[in-house]
Amino acid sequence: MDSIVITGGKPLRGSVKVSGSKNAALPIIAACLLTDQKVTLTNIPKLTDIYTMKHLIENHAGKIEVIDKEDQLGLIIDCSKIDNLTAPYEIVRKMRASIWVLGPLLARFGKAKVSLPGGCAIGIRQVDLHIASLEAMGAKIEIKEGYIYATSNSRLKGVHFIFNKVSVGATINAIMAATLASGETRLFNCAQEPEIIDLCHCLNGMGAEVSGIGTSEVTIIGKKYLHGTNYNVMPDRIEAGTYMIAAAITKGELDICGIDYHIIENLVLKLKEAGINVVDLGNNIIKVQYVGILKQVDIQTAVYPGFSTDLQAQFMSLMSLSSGTSIITENIFENRFMHVSELCRMGANITINNHSAVVRGTNYLSGAEVMASDLRASVSLVLAGLVAKGETKVRRIYHLDRGYQMLEEKLGKCGADIRRIVGDSV
Ligand code: EPZ
Repeated sequence: MDSIVITGGKPLRGSVKVSGSKNAALPIIAACLLTDQKVTLTNIPKLTDIYTMKHLIENHAGKIEVIDKEDQLGLIIDCSKIDNLTAPYEIVRKMRASIWVLGPLLARFGKAKVSLPGGCAIGIRQVDLHIASLEAMGAKIEIKEGYIYATSNSRLKGVHFIFNKVSVGATINAIMAATLASGETRLFNCAQEPEIIDLCHCLNGMGAEVSGIGTSEVTIIGKKYLHGTNYNVMPDRIEAGTYMIAAAITKGELDICGIDYHIIENLVLKLKEAGINVVDLGNNIIKVQYVGILKQVDIQTAVYPGFSTDLQAQFMSLMSLSSGTSIITENIFENRFMHVSELCRMGANITINNHSAVVRGTNYLSGAEVMASDLRASVSLVLAGLVAKGETKVRRIYHLDRGYQMLEEKLGKCGADIRRIVGDSV
């Protein structure tokens, strides 16, 4: 496995171009299973999770033509000849987002067999809400031998359904399934993440009729048939937020290009509270500048538009160098503090108390060998390495390749001393 080696202490300066959103692209690729016409997608990031989803669609006998551009992929997806309705464990175990083929396969073909994704480093991550919403639409669902067996004798039926907990993934599966159901579906207590908005716009481009987009109450008028479309995927707000924190933690100044200020305002407000200068330069460019102070800030992760759980680890790295004590509370996943022990090995002073981490700011971090455990935990260690004294080696960085396109190149261009060692660690 590859490692990343960073010599810390260089303030980042320059600009970073944000890539396409992983978490928008993944469900949009799955949504292509809803139609027998070609869908052309652009601004797809070059990430291993995208290649895993491509592999899954191909396993169902979808055809995908890849247009490989320098900084993004184009995908022409043709799901006209789907003949395998099973999403096998070998693929699903690599990526939970595979569960998003369930709704489209069931809605279009009346049948699907999808491996249960199981837990992962950040928590148990159930799929009960995905299943409940599809059952409400008339599907018969059985769980056996580690698989979800879903069938529907006729078209799925429009329904009124209330999610008893807000879930990004379940909202996505239910919306996709409802686009081909008969009649009207109204979904209440939906997740409102920008990636769901992006999916809904793509679905409407395919002929779906989704309204209430971006609110907690989404209405879908089911259609007998969806058609092909061209769609440009939104930029990755979590990648953007990670580079914003990189500017702050290295006492540098970066222009983050290609991201809407308002989409990332939950982070902007917290950075400003910490004393970081953040300016909307217009044209989707945000300037982030350290101005000689880093104050402690408390955060609580929450569903959108609250502070994203996907930026919690990165913000914790930043707060480990603040001038006071900050309380970071994780409310979405039960085990998303895997980075804490590794940050402590670099000299951070953090203790965990149930769902909260008490982060006492220190004057400096020291380089160390650390182990990446999940995607955002991994990048939080890279951020810490960028500012630590001496050399940091982050092992097991395959997690980073799932979510950060050209990380070393983007950081290196802004002055970071960072390199990848191929095949270095186990
Ligand atoms: C999506 O995961 C994202 N993944 C995650 O990003 C993100 O952290 C998460 O949403 C929250 O924003 C992708 O978009 C591919 P959930 P998802 O369903 O859909 C519980 C990253 O780093 N739950 O909103 O799995 C669940 O256990 C990744 O890019 C149920 O109880 O998240 C969790 O505690 C990691 N039953 C909470 O809800 C269900 O049926 C939120 O999960 C479904 C979820």
